[in-house]
Amino acid sequence: MSALTLPVARGLDEWRRLRPRHGTLGLVPTMGALHEGHLSLVRRALDENDACVVSIFVNPTQFDDPGDLAAYPATFDDDCTLLAGLGAPIVLAPTADVLYADGYRVRVSEHVDACDLEGRHRPGHFDGMLTVVLKLLNIAGAHRAYFGEKDFQQLGLVRTMVESLFHPTRIVGCPTVREPDGLAMSSRNRRLTPAQRHLAGRWAALLADV
Ligand code: PAF
Repeated sequence: MSALTLPVARGLDEWRRLRPRHGTLGLVPTMGALHEGHLSLVRRALDENDACVVSIFVNPTQFDDPGDLAAYPATFDDDCTLLAGLGAPIVLAPTADVLYADGYRVRVSEHVDACDLEGRHRPGHFDGMLTVVLKLLNIAGAHRAYFGEKDFQQLGLVRTMVESLFHPTRIVGCPTVREPDGLAMSSRNRRLTPAQRHLAGRWAALLADV
């Protein structure tokens, strides 16, 4: 099946027109550049629900470094082809104008766990992530949403947000998928030089023994 046969909703009206209407819906939020880790989430969402929607949106508000945002891999057509192959019925790929019509005046912050670990080094990252996840949950209206355990601080914060704001979507955490040498699969791995990639695999193997 080609990428062209997979419906893509860019705006809210399009989403309302195209969204699966019957039974339960699973949402897999992504920033694209899909790999086997994402596909495992999609397979699980398809297994546990009557339909699944994958969102693809490279969220500018969660990048604290503009260079990192500019270098983020964009592989939209390939992503759609992979998803069509799995039988995912629809992609939600809203534009920044749609998601941030308010100019990011309204945002979600968590003031305890988000300041620790990754949050110490990436100011504003978790505000941007929580804000976009809440918007995607609200738009999709899914019964369940699937997140990788690889980003365990993100997963914990999403759970806290959903619980604190009484959001009805159930958050499902899914096991990390790894390369043969133990490195967790990540869209950013493709930006590593061969030497960096080798080193990352060595670290993953070392940490697995700890
Ligand atoms: O994990 C990601 O890819 C992103 O942080 C998410 C959850 C899609 C929000 O932009």
